Amino acid sequence: MIYQRLIRPLLFRLDPERAHHLAYCLLKWASRIGPLKALLGALYGVRRPELAQTIWGLEFPNPVGLAAGFDKHSLALPALSRMGFGFVEVGAISSVARPGNPRPRIFRLKADRGLINRMGLPNPGAEETARRLAAFRDRRVPVLANIVKTADLDGDAATMVADYVETLSRILPQVDGFTINISCPATPNLKTLGKKEAMEELLRRLAAERDRLVAAGDGRPRPLILKVSPDVGEAEKEAIVAACSQGLADGLVLTNTTTQRPASLKSDASVLAERGGLSGAPLFPISLAMVRDFAARTGGRTPIIAVGGIASAREAREMLDAGASLVEVYTGYVYEGPSLPRRIVEELAASGWRPRG
Ligand SMILES: Cc1cc2nc3c(=O)[nH]c(=O)nc-3n(C[C@H](O)[C@H](O)[C@H](O)COP(=O)(O)O)c2cc1C
Repeated sequence: MIYQRLIRPLLFRLDPERAHHLAYCLLKWASRIGPLKALLGALYGVRRPELAQTIWGLEFPNPVGLAAGFDKHSLALPALSRMGFGFVEVGAISSVARPGNPRPRIFRLKADRGLINRMGLPNPGAEETARRLAAFRDRRVPVLANIVKTADLDGDAATMVADYVETLSRILPQVDGFTINISCPATPNLKTLGKKEAMEELLRRLAAERDRLVAAGDGRPRPLILKVSPDVGEAEKEAIVAACSQGLADGLVLTNTTTQRPASLKSDASVLAERGGLSGAPLFPISLAMVRDFAARTGGRTPIIAVGGIASAREAREMLDAGASLVEVYTGYVYEGPSLPRRIVEELAASGWRPRG
């Protein structure tokens, strides 16, 4: 309530990237100051052991995670991991540090409770990210790393695959699993990796490197979870399902942002004309349909993380009932505030939802 009545109106007076930056700085400081971190934990943490589940050998204390793109710099993770989330995705991370696209690159669609972004994958690079993650020891929830090719890397599929493999190998010791981002709409060339042969080669090479490092290291599992665009065509869908059935992908994140602009959108045409990926409420029906479709195509054998327009327990429940095992929020978190994960978890528990199996 305090967020929606007081803090959000102030933040929403700022340009969206400034608002994010301000909130992010607070979380970053809180991450370094023990008592502040503990306070955020007391305010927003949640414990519902009946919602805990083990997937891919990882223990998730609850099914509500933070989606990729919020903590691109892996500096707010200590605070965020106490604020009610059952897992946190950091990144996207590429092998080399990149500043992203020129600003403005995030646009608010207030009337639609959505965002359009074309961030262009700003991040500190794999080596610096590994260093930051290594300094974060107080692990309470699984940490997944969203990995992607270096935004401006040119070259054929083999060059891009090598870039992903380098990122994975640098940060593997510090994370519990990977989401493989081949679906960022603002990144040139990425579509190449949606083609069957290239996708299989990417996953095969990543799995081989993962297996090698895990065997030589701590032996803990590190799932490779493919993050899918809601704009994929039938051929790409079939390639993804084939990758799942061959065990090349351990799971799916459904979905990334969309380049679609549904006719139902109410925001100004000038904002809707901005290039980039649409997230938030208008994405919900699109992502939900993808979750249903892939749950059916994979026969429920591939764990699904659902993301896209979730801003309440009702939407989280719909995704879980449609076949997802876990959910994530991003845009809903911006609109609803820091109590959202706790609210979803409490309401899911009260609604009688329990993990399968
Ligand atoms: C500003 C912004 C940056 C994002 N950056 C990434 C990213 O780096 N990697 C990624 O896989 N997804 C990224 N996403 C997509 C989200 O992780 C999520 O898939 C999408 O926003 C749909 O969920 P939502 O409707 O809850 O926001 C980003 C989204 C936003 C709004």
